[in-house]
Amino acid sequence: MLLTAEENAMLAGELGPAVRTAMRILAALGKIYQAESMLPVSSVQVSGVSFDNLGEAGLDWLAEMAAGGARARVLTTLNPAGMDVENWRALGISPDFAANQQRVLDAFSQMGILPTCTCTPYLVGNLPHFGEHIAWAESSAVCFANSVLGARTNREGGPSALAAAVTGRTPAYGLHLDENRKPGLTIIVDCELSGTRDFGALGVVVGRAIEKMPERPIPYFTSIASATLEELKSLCASIATYGGSALFHIEGITPEASQFSPAARSIKTSRAEIDSAILEFDNPAAGAVDFVSLGCPHLSIREIAEVASLLQGRQVRKEVWITTARPTKRLADQVGYTQIIEAAGAKFAADTCCVVAPITGRFKVMATDSAKACYYAFGKNHFRTRFLTLPELIEEACR
Ligand code: F3S
Repeated sequence: MLLTAEENAMLAGELGPAVRTAMRILAALGKIYQAESMLPVSSVQVSGVSFDNLGEAGLDWLAEMAAGGARARVLTTLNPAGMDVENWRALGISPDFAANQQRVLDAFSQMGILPTCTCTPYLVGNLPHFGEHIAWAESSAVCFANSVLGARTNREGGPSALAAAVTGRTPAYGLHLDENRKPGLTIIVDCELSGTRDFGALGVVVGRAIEKMPERPIPYFTSIASATLEELKSLCASIATYGGSALFHIEGITPEASQFSPAARSIKTSRAEIDSAILEFDNPAAGAVDFVSLGCPHLSIREIAEVASLLQGRQVRKEVWITTARPTKRLADQVGYTQIIEAAGAKFAADTCCVVAPITGRFKVMATDSAKACYYAFGKNHFRTRFLTLPELIEEACR
């Protein structure tokens, strides 16, 4: 791989041991994927923040990087942590876990990384523009950045994203290159879709179809009349979870779609398939719901406004988490949504989510509108699920 003089200096350790480690990670990746050079990146999203996933070994590595002089050279934000940093006690997080999680956040802060603790960095100021090269981890955000924003990123892991933050570089391969962004499969959506649950279910159906194809084609959706930001973030989370997709195009909606024609190979998606995906995760026989979680990916201010309007003057009767980015929560505080939601007995869980918080085994049946959350509810936390629309979730919470 051809490196610039500055990149060679990084590799030789002239900018300190942490930068050398970071450049070694990127050079190794570049070699594996046969990149010809590095690309400068302008934005990074780092995952692997919850102490529940990192453990002591992960924390030690972060502390070592921070002590070795690792500092973010470009705008870098963080994925959700394992707790609400301000309100962890109310969410049942233990003091031990909170102390360890805080050590993780301190290490990231020492490296100049913004402790945004959200999987929707694009809603809180980390918003790359069309064609910008970035290095993001967090599969739903990667898919959103590539597909909806038209920025360019591979699916980074925690270490490679941190390495990109510290060097301001990423190897030039994969979705950074024009030739790898072409659609390979047309999806004719032969039904109306409405709401985050429908779009999540579409991601399940299409993601599973793609997973069965060895070449993992990039989907090109046709016949979707419209999609809100919230529906798109739901589709991104779901198709990334069930199909490993990091990019799709939607005719008439996403920015690169007009550069391509629909792929010759096509499949049709029917209402019956969407409904069957919904029914798979929505099991009324699962027993009584004891946990309602909204915000996977993290809720936008428009979704919080809807939750507040549905909860106004009512009372929830089970544990309800509203997961969102702290800056979005602050806006909700300012305009009064928080007061309405908390008066109803629901809890804000800013900075975290039902997947990365240490809640395995704490509940039996979780209700959500997120197909991604259903996947991890069962796989990681051993919960049964109800897969409902947002208004249905509020009804369930108050039942
Ligand atoms: Fe975000 Fe957690 Fe879902 S990180 S996409 S809310 S699993």
